[in-house]
Amino acid sequence: MKMISSDQEVGGAGVGLRLPHIHEVVETRPPARWLEIHPENFLANPHATELLLEARRHYPVSVHTVGISIGSAAGVDRTHLRRVRAFVDGLDPCLVSGHLAWSTHQGEYLNDLVPLPYDEETLRLLTEHIDEVQDGLGRAYLVENPASYFGFTSSTMNEVEFLSELTERTGCRLLCDVSNVYVSAHNMGYDPYEYIDRLPAQSVGELHLGGFTAEPDEALPGAEILVDTHAAFVAEPVWALYDYAVRKFGAIPTLIEWDDEIPSFATLLAEAIRADQIMARRAAVEPARAAAG
Ligand SMILES: [Fe+2]
Repeated sequence: MKMISSDQEVGGAGVGLRLPHIHEVVETRPPARWLEIHPENFLANPHATELLLEARRHYPVSVHTVGISIGSAAGVDRTHLRRVRAFVDGLDPCLVSGHLAWSTHQGEYLNDLVPLPYDEETLRLLTEHIDEVQDGLGRAYLVENPASYFGFTSSTMNEVEFLSELTERTGCRLLCDVSNVYVSAHNMGYDPYEYIDRLPAQSVGELHLGGFTAEPDEALPGAEILVDTHAAFVAEPVWALYDYAVRKFGAIPTLIEWDDEIPSFATLLAEAIRADQIMARRAAVEPARAAAG
């Protein structure tokens, strides 16, 4: 059977494919528009990789790496990059992305994606690392905004300025995680709508939506901190921000992410349908506005 080519237009809302659903997806072929996977779940799992290649025959697949630590001062893990390159070449995905963060330190993998200070030195370091990743993969890389819980006093620019400069210097594109924008804005005290307004729209190639969990803020009694757990439905204020983001960026590929306490695949599909409905509504409204104007 013919493989779907990576240059085939991927559109609408896709679903993050996690290992508990892979048999179901291969056997029942649910109507997902596209799938996104973490290569780190497959690199040491030949059986899962075989199933993924079978799924790939029927769905466009995007690769979202969580192990290429572009923010690590020690440099990109070249062995891991080579393994991801081989994996990506075999899968021929529609998009390849990763986080603006570091997740390795002195050769150890950390459980969390740790944010970075936004200053000139970090910018130089990341420019080098993204160049290396794009050369190493032989493809454009999309960089995702992180969920933030604290800032660095050494930062000399905000996240949007930092990301914009990074796209200028490397030609990378952006993956705007709308839930992360909401979570960071709440935790750091800025306006998420202004963040979306200021992001360079022409560079944004994908959107993410995931669930967060509210926890008591230990530093501020009575206040809540939002944690990007990917263990819940997309929250209503995030849907509203997503609607706004679609107005700004257009109906670009959008992913539903759920990584902990994973529900049925049908539940994930229902979330994707809601995102598709928002994109369709915007697509219907905007031409009508243009005609009226
Ligand atoms: Fe994300």
